[in-house]
Amino acid sequence: MKYVERLGTTAPALGFGTFPMMGDDCYSAVLWALEVGYRHIDTAQLYGNEADVGRALADSSVPRGEIFLTTKCGVYDASPVAVAAELTDSLVKLQTDYVDLWMYHWHNRDTPLGETLAALAEAKAAGLARQIGVGNFTIPLIREAVDVHGAVLFTNQFENHPLLRQPHVERATWAHGMAVTAHSPLGRGKVPGNGVLEGIGAKYGKSAVQVAIRWQLDKPNTLLVPKSTRRAGIVENFDVFDFTLDDDDRAAIDGLPNGQRGSDPPFAPDWDPI
Ligand SMILES: NC(=O)c1ccc[n+]([C@@H]2O[C@H](COP(=O)([O-])OP(=O)(O)OC[C@H]3O[C@@H](n4cnc5c(N)ncnc54)[C@H](OP(=O)(O)O)[C@@H]3O)[C@@H](O)[C@H]2O)c1
Repeated sequence: MKYVERLGTTAPALGFGTFPMMGDDCYSAVLWALEVGYRHIDTAQLYGNEADVGRALADSSVPRGEIFLTTKCGVYDASPVAVAAELTDSLVKLQTDYVDLWMYHWHNRDTPLGETLAALAEAKAAGLARQIGVGNFTIPLIREAVDVHGAVLFTNQFENHPLLRQPHVERATWAHGMAVTAHSPLGRGKVPGNGVLEGIGAKYGKSAVQVAIRWQLDKPNTLLVPKSTRRAGIVENFDVFDFTLDDDDRAAIDGLPNGQRGSDPPFAPDWDPI
C-alpha cells in the first residue's frame, strides 16, 4: 500500500468507494474490500448506505483503528446545525465514535462557506472527525476556503481520471495544503475497455482499470476511491502495487480526449475550464 501523510494523519492512498451500493450489496462489498486489504472506506450521508457500511465494519475482524473511514455532509442543507446533525447520524449508522475524515460533500450556495467550514472545524476540535475536507471544490472555492476562511483541510475530493484530467485543480489543491482525492477514478465505468489504457496495461500484464489506478498512485499527495460491487473487481483494483507507469505511458494518457465528466448534478459549482 502507498500512504499519504498530511496534517499528522496517515491515510492509505487506495480507498474503496461505496456509491451507489446499498443494502447487502454494499455490506458484502465492504467486507470483501476489508478482506482483500483495503483500509480506507469512502461513504456519505447522500449515499444512504452508511448503516450498511457500519454493519460491515462491525462484522469485520479488522480493528476500527486500522481503518481510515470517511463520510460527507451538507448537500441539501449546509447550515452548521444541519451538518452537525448529519454527523451525529453518520456516527450512529457507522457504529463508531469518530470518522477519520469528514468532508463537505458539495458547496451549497444557500449557506455562507465560512459558516459550514467553522462547523466542520468544531467537529474536528471535538474529536468527532480526525480530519476535515471538501468535495468538488473548484479553484475559486479552494481559495475562498483556505485564503479567506483559513480552513485547515486534509483533502479536496473531486472527479479525476484519465478521461477527465484536471491538473490545474490538482495544483491548486496541493498549493493550498491539501491532498487530492480522485473520485470516480474509473470514469464511472468509461475506463474499462479503453483501448489506449489496455495497450499500456499489456506492457505490464495489467488491465485498463489497473493502469488508471496506478496513474493516480504514481502522483504525489493523491488518494483515490474506485468502486466495484463484484469481488473480482475489488481484487483486481487492489492488485496494483507491483508496477509503475513510465513517461511514455503518462504521455499517452495525456493524449486521451479530456473532459468526460460523469458527476454533474444540478447543485454542482461552476466548473473550472478543462
Ligand atoms: N465526492 C463526490 O461527489 C463523489 C462523486 C462520485 C463518486 N464518489 C466516490 O467515488 C467512488 C467511485 O466513483 P464511482 O462509483 O462513481 O465510479 P468509478 O469507481 O469510477 O467506476 C465504477 C464503475 O466501474 C466498474 N468497475 C470497477 N472496477 C472494475 C474492474 N476491475 N473492471 C471493470 N469494471 C470495473 C464498476 O462496475 P462493477 O461495480 O460492476 O465492478 C462501476 O460501473 C464512489 O463509490 C464514491 O465513494 C464521490
